[in-house]
Amino acid sequence: MEFTKLHENPDVLHVGACPPRSYYLPKAPDDGGESSRVCSLNGTWSFRYFDSFLDVFPDGTAADICFDEDDMDEIEVPSCWQNAGYDRHMYTNVRYPIPFDPPFVPDENPCGLYLRRFEISAEDRTRRTYLNFEGVDSCFYLWVNEQFAGYSQVSHSTSEFDVTDLLVEGENAVAVLVLKWCDGTYLEDQDKLRMSGIFRDVYLISRPENHIRDFFVKTALNEDFSRATIRVETELCGKPELSAALYAPDGELLQIAAGENPVFTVERPQLWNAEDPVQYALRLATPDEVIEQKVGISKIEIRGGVLYFNGMKIKLRGVNRHDSDPVTGYTISREQAKRDLILMKQHNINAVRTSHYPNAPWFLQLCSEYGFYVIAEADIESHGASMQTGAHGMDEYADVALNPIFDKAILDRIQRSVIRDKNNACVLMWSYGNESGWGPSFEKAGAWVKSYDPSRLTHYENTYYDARGHKNDLSSLDTVSRMYPAPEWIEEYFADPKNTQPLVLCEYIHAMGNGPGDAEQYQQLIMRHDGFMGGFVWEWCDHAVYGGTTPDNRDVFRYGGDFGEFPNDGNFCMDGLVYPDRTPHTGLLEYKNVIRPVRAELLDAKAAEIRLTNYRDFTNTDEFLMISWEIQQDGETTACGVLDDIAIAPHESGVIRLNGEVPETGDVTILLNYSAKKDDSVFFPKGHALGFDQLIVSRAARSEAPLTPGGVQAVEDGRRITVTGPDFRYVFSKTEGVFESLVKSNASLMTRPMTWNTYRAPTDNDQYIDAAWKQAGYDCPQVKVYGCESRVENGVAAIDCTLSLAAVYRRPFLRLECRFEIDGAGRIRAEIRGARDTAQAYLPRFGLRMFLPKSFDTAEYFGYGPYESYCDKHQASYLGRFAQRTDDLFEDYVKPQENGSRFGCKSVTVTDGAGAVTVTSPADFSFNLSRYTQEELAAKKHNYELNQSPDVVFCFDYKMSGVGSNSCGPQLAKPMRFDEETFTFRFDLVVE
Ligand code: GAL
Ligand code: MG
Repeated sequence: MEFTKLHENPDVLHVGACPPRSYYLPKAPDDGGESSRVCSLNGTWSFRYFDSFLDVFPDGTAADICFDEDDMDEIEVPSCWQNAGYDRHMYTNVRYPIPFDPPFVPDENPCGLYLRRFEISAEDRTRRTYLNFEGVDSCFYLWVNEQFAGYSQVSHSTSEFDVTDLLVEGENAVAVLVLKWCDGTYLEDQDKLRMSGIFRDVYLISRPENHIRDFFVKTALNEDFSRATIRVETELCGKPELSAALYAPDGELLQIAAGENPVFTVERPQLWNAEDPVQYALRLATPDEVIEQKVGISKIEIRGGVLYFNGMKIKLRGVNRHDSDPVTGYTISREQAKRDLILMKQHNINAVRTSHYPNAPWFLQLCSEYGFYVIAEADIESHGASMQTGAHGMDEYADVALNPIFDKAILDRIQRSVIRDKNNACVLMWSYGNESGWGPSFEKAGAWVKSYDPSRLTHYENTYYDARGHKNDLSSLDTVSRMYPAPEWIEEYFADPKNTQPLVLCEYIHAMGNGPGDAEQYQQLIMRHDGFMGGFVWEWCDHAVYGGTTPDNRDVFRYGGDFGEFPNDGNFCMDGLVYPDRTPHTGLLEYKNVIRPVRAELLDAKAAEIRLTNYRDFTNTDEFLMISWEIQQDGETTACGVLDDIAIAPHESGVIRLNGEVPETGDVTILLNYSAKKDDSVFFPKGHALGFDQLIVSRAARSEAPLTPGGVQAVEDGRRITVTGPDFRYVFSKTEGVFESLVKSNASLMTRPMTWNTYRAPTDNDQYIDAAWKQAGYDCPQVKVYGCESRVENGVAAIDCTLSLAAVYRRPFLRLECRFEIDGAGRIRAEIRGARDTAQAYLPRFGLRMFLPKSFDTAEYFGYGPYESYCDKHQASYLGRFAQRTDDLFEDYVKPQENGSRFGCKSVTVTDGAGAVTVTSPADFSFNLSRYTQEELAAKKHNYELNQSPDVVFCFDYKMSGVGSNSCGPQLAKPMRFDEETFTFRFDLVVE
């Protein structure tokens, strides 16, 4: 065989490899926790990197070069070679990293040659030895003791080889040549950093000649869930005698069964669900081997277009998760995976889509143990096919799916995913892959999935286009899946009686940068429609490569383009709910509260009567919920208490009454903080916050303070109006239409003149609208003052000013009529009437910007805090009184952008302890207080490049547009845009 061309032969996917099987690690009969039959080959291997495959075999044959350690470096296995300093990093989303010419790949194909020696004992030689690779990107040739042993391609699934006949007693050597690209690359165009190497565990398994090759645990429940049968279908090698035992979740031996397909019956079974992931234990024994397998019993059904899990309608509160770490890349340890899953639990998440490939096989065991519903996805994405003649050509999208040379691989990948993971209770749906179009290949593979495992649902999103005349047969799919549809699309879906399948959003609320701003809107729809199974946020984590720290100790995280690579997709990989180091984004806090386990509604304010609804699917509130409540008036707590004995069944509501007076005046709110009633040894302690509701009882009428007449003078020259009073001297610019200096009590408040502000550092979600903002000139307006007059009347100075904002070569986008009154105490009262040019895009914001001395680094405000809040992103915040420092107001996005705004404010005071400036308004407003200017945030690609301003930048805005999730989701919802044609901004500004 000319083995050197297997990687361009889509007909040959695996050579010498065993057929796939379910994941298990067999043990010796008397093993305790660890298996003595598994020998890990993780650790240091000899390694040699080649820029090109052509250099590996200089004389064109498989010479024994592979076994010569002399010229080799060392590398840790598992790892990605790019992280060990070889080759280079690349981040590309849709576009393939190689020319689209299947099944061929470039000859200049980087390779890594791995070599490792190991001992085989005489006892091992009495059994068979299997060599397992859980993940190698993208394909590999294998030699054992200088003999060609096999080949395999599929990066994220297991490849197992029976190497018994190639081994000898004593020292043995295994050599693995890993290629960066192969014809499988066309099926692995997932949106991720592109890394290579042996990135998951490698180990040997020693097994008796006669053994269980594979087994499938099938559970069935009767109508009323009072009895379960567990049937274990085995596939045997030879004829081992088999005995099976089933243990209860508490470890008690329940039953013993024998025969090739043992069957157990469990009366009153404890059912598995994500809230109570209770598992039985199965022990399969042959004379010289034991296999242990956890078993969760559950029933998945769709009735009337609605998903039922164990007879309950459940909702998926999910995230998409990649194997990704800024230091270890694709190589993820159990500890790293646990950290992710625990963080998810702490944030109310109950479902994971393994986008877009199978994770390590033990990952699903963890999901079963911790309680997550999983969409288990096959290792398939060929998105880049759509980019051959332009962007996203729909007919070309299916070029791989419709190309019969890939039929075999598509089936193989889907089978490997299902066969390996089938015994995990957590698997709710099998997903055929992501963004690969549709064709007969998927039809055949889908039919196989349904016949192999009818107990699970099937999932695939990219079905909605009949490419190149092929009429899509979607009969193997149980669900309709979409990504990023607008809310209107969802309403239409449920309004149309032709839609009989449940809907799932495999991706929604794109979490890139400052966002998502639409989580609550989608949650309302999820709660409203029974047929709406829920959704999976795109995505769990920011992907980056850690680059150490700067001399001033700032972390360097690199993303697309930072490696000089082509193509690259910039920071599109930075779109997670957590930063690369797993610090939560405010978006995760937002999502957490949107998917809180209970929600409250105010029934009767006077009686403090509240309706609580339990959104857990299986757990009564008396098992998990403690509420500490506070009644607040103007941000001060007037009554508080704790409730920890509320019993509300899942999906039911109950009425509670708080034992406290509800004040009748002022801003009155009721804050219900939900927390964990009990310690959970794995996920969180008692008292862990589960979310909250804030009920607004009443908002105070806003009255403006009376002005204090007396002692003011106004003096004008050609450029300025100087208003003086007993204790102040304010200078108003007649060319800018705002104050250029404010001196009070002999101290100057502003370090630079005040300016009008109509721009923000674009968020990632602003990346498309930003062109329209720049076109309109919102980022660089010049002020034209048409008229400016001052006078003193009744002891109060008044300045009337008419102006417009317009950028060079463009017409004015905003006309303002302003009146500023200044009273004897120095209070400035402004009324600004604005009229927009509505032919231009909506405004990111409108307000004023002040530059204050560096010491002014604390904001005391009454508004939505303590986290950054926007009109469409304030579910993690509540209305209250807060005092925060600039550093705590700042959200440190790796790609700098607008951040840290506070929404719904009634007042804000910025102070350094001695001096202060206070803004109040009769209408809610927003503000930012930052060490960085918006220009600096907009200019820098990474947070570690940011330079602080010599001042503190204080922006207060009549309005700040929402953030949305348009980086991949729909355009910003209309009500969240600042697009009023005319508006009036009134505020008072007081300097102390
Ligand atoms: C989706 C895709 C994801 C990711 C996302 C953008 O279309 O399925 O893998 O690329 O867009 O972040
Ligand atoms: Mg894609």
